[in-house]
Amino acid sequence: MSEFDQMYREVILDHYKNPRGHGLLEGADAEAEGQNPLCGDEVSIYVAFGEDGETIDEVKFSGRGCAISQAATSMLTELVQGRTATEVAGLSRDELLDEIGIPLTPVRLKCALLGLSTLKLALHKAKGTSLPQEWAGMADDLDLK
Ligand code: FES
Repeated sequence: MSEFDQMYREVILDHYKNPRGHGLLEGADAEAEGQNPLCGDEVSIYVAFGEDGETIDEVKFSGRGCAISQAATSMLTELVQGRTATEVAGLSRDELLDEIGIPLTPVRLKCALLGLSTLKLALHKAKGTSLPQEWAGMADDLDLK
C-alpha cells in the first residue's frame, strides 16, 4: 500500500471512530432513511435549512454500518454544510469519492454512496430537488424511504 493510500485509510478510520455530524436533529426540515439491502446497514439523515429555506445550516446522521458507509456519511456532512439543497442535488458522486480517496470495489461503492443517496432523497422529499439519472440504478439497489 502506498503512503498516500495509508493516509486516506487513516482519515477514513478517524471519521469512522469520531463521526462528524453524528446524532439526531429534532424538528428537521428534511429527513430520510436509507438501507443497503446487501448488508442491512442503514443511515438516517436530518437536515435543517437556514433562514432562506435553501441553505443547509445543519446536517446530522445516525445509523449503523461498516467503516466506509459511516465514514463516508461523516465526510458528507462536512462537504455539504453551507451549500444549498439544489447544489447538493447536483453534487456528483465523484466529489464524495474524491474525499474518500481510495479505490472501491462495486460492493464498497454502495457502502460509500449510502449516505449521499439518503441525503439526496431527503432533499428530494422536502424540496422536490431532482434525483439525477445517473443515480437511477444505484437508487434501485438501495432501499430508500
Ligand atoms: Fe453495509 Fe457497507 S457493509 S454499508
